[in-house]
Amino acid sequence: MAEARDVTTTTDKSDDEFAKFDFSVSEIPCLHYQSVEAERLISCEKPVVLRDSRVISTAMKWSLDYLEANMGDSKCNVYSSQTGRFKYFDDKKAQTFPGFECPMQLNEMTFDEFVRKVREWKAGDRALYLQQALNDTVKPSIVRDFIGFDWDWLNFHQAKQKWGPLTSNLVLIAMGGNITPAHYDEQHNFFCQVEGRKRCILFHPDQFECLYPHPVSHPCDRQSQVDFDRPDFSRFPKFKHVKGWETIVHPGEILYIPMYWWHYIESAKSDTTTTSITFWYRSGPTPQEITWPLSVEQKIAVTRNIEKMLHDALKNTEEVRELLHMIVDGRYPCERWDHERPFTQ
Ligand code: OGA
Ligand code: FE
Repeated sequence: MAEARDVTTTTDKSDDEFAKFDFSVSEIPCLHYQSVEAERLISCEKPVVLRDSRVISTAMKWSLDYLEANMGDSKCNVYSSQTGRFKYFDDKKAQTFPGFECPMQLNEMTFDEFVRKVREWKAGDRALYLQQALNDTVKPSIVRDFIGFDWDWLNFHQAKQKWGPLTSNLVLIAMGGNITPAHYDEQHNFFCQVEGRKRCILFHPDQFECLYPHPVSHPCDRQSQVDFDRPDFSRFPKFKHVKGWETIVHPGEILYIPMYWWHYIESAKSDTTTTSITFWYRSGPTPQEITWPLSVEQKIAVTRNIEKMLHDALKNTEEVRELLHMIVDGRYPCERWDHERPFTQ
């Protein structure tokens, strides 16, 4: 099984299925879902691809045809983008952020309409990406499949890792070549692949400075400002040194994306559509005993809170920048810090 996968992985890459990048990447381990090593990686919040699980075996029949027959008249959120890049933005922040141009457009349509648009799609049309949470409006057949997921395995991990509640299951149906640019989420994710292949590049939270996220008050909070296809090294010089972890997830596999890990996700160009289901879990309660120095993840949480507080007080992103400079410049001598990687211990 592992060998067969390696061969496919090599073919995937040589076939021009995915974009080429210059930064260095290592391979995310792909392990049997019950192996000791896989358990260890999940426990220390490291990404891993889990194979041979039957966690969503009841959803493996969720082809476009099956979903059309079983949720054809359900209303779904479908994004469209001229560039094939689907950079998430916060709608509320977008209303008030000066000069913000939405990188993609949201349309509500029935599942039938989405499938029809995908089938009629021709070069030059806007790329489409369905991103719909599984909710209580779905038909009984989908509910049955959902109940049939391996909740024992999922709940066991949620309890073992002391995660908070499962917040949502998003069904993601992308067209081949669609790209979700690099961002991080504030939740843990069991990312399950149903159909087609997705190339996922992950970055450790300590790569924060190489990836230059937008300010917290920006509609694209948590998203990298760097355009991976044409990185502007004069604005983002540390992106040259970014180090990633890569895999291609195949149907039936689960990628564990730990909270705060950056991810860039790209659907194989020759797959008409790819389908994934997310299982997002909130982090658990803060541990009773905090030890110092803080972890990178804790520092990111602190940074976010400080940025939010300053923005709540000042109501202006430019003034946040000025105030942060005023606090630091000339006051905290910089010789003491490792400029390249201050987030790393
Ligand atoms: C996620 C995510 C995007 C995609 O599951 O957190 O960002 O295109 N997915 O699969
Ligand atoms: Fe994400």
